[in-house]
Amino acid sequence: MALYALGDLHLSFQANKPMDAFGRVWKNHEKKIRKYTHQIVKPQDTLVLTGDHSWGRKLAECREDLAFIEDLPGRKILLRGNHDMFWDAKKTSRLNEEYAGRLFFLQNNFAVYQDYALVGTKGYTFEGPFYLDPWGNLTGWDKDRETQAKKLVEREMARLRDSFDQASAAGFRKFIMFLHYPPTNILEETSPFTEIAEEYGVSAVVYSHCHGAWRFGDSIRGTYHGIRYLLVSGDYLDFKPELVVP
Ligand SMILES: [Fe+2]
Ligand SMILES: [Fe+2]
Repeated sequence: MALYALGDLHLSFQANKPMDAFGRVWKNHEKKIRKYTHQIVKPQDTLVLTGDHSWGRKLAECREDLAFIEDLPGRKILLRGNHDMFWDAKKTSRLNEEYAGRLFFLQNNFAVYQDYALVGTKGYTFEGPFYLDPWGNLTGWDKDRETQAKKLVEREMARLRDSFDQASAAGFRKFIMFLHYPPTNILEETSPFTEIAEEYGVSAVVYSHCHGAWRFGDSIRGTYHGIRYLLVSGDYLDFKPELVVP
């Protein structure tokens, strides 16, 4: 039994959104997803998919993408990404009823893996724009967007805390925390998300969203204050699921 994670499948079986334009790593990426998950993930394993599942704008346009995910091996747990327009956070229980026993949608709830509670939400990071001088030094950033980002962070923190509270009330003391957005932006070493991870003593923080080699280093990777931070963007991993807990 093992816990794996992979993010940003960006499937488009029903939407006209070829991903090849984003670089060689995306060529036939759905075939790589199928091949590597079947090689790595066993039926008794758990696979958390950390958002940006589908380019469809509503559920009817995502059915084939979700069916593709359903066909992957193991128990599948899905997190919301910024592109998952089909998934209204407030209607998560409706998705969970419809896909009961097939897919689990992680939002304002939690899942269990061994003695860990799997908690998570989309998260949010202020990504600029940042302004640079001709020598590449940071000289400022967009204040309005930063203000808006603070509001979104507060909303996401409330959702994440709800997930932690439910798991704690159920008696769990070990946690793996999932975010779609990175836990910090390129200017930060800490954020409300790293602080809550430390408050609950999570074993790992798993996130994705960052695409392209120039973005993979935007946030924390490796061990920081005793917590493992794992980037699991599909293109970062060449679509091979990453082992989170053996
Ligand atoms: Fe993405
Ligand atoms: Fe994303």
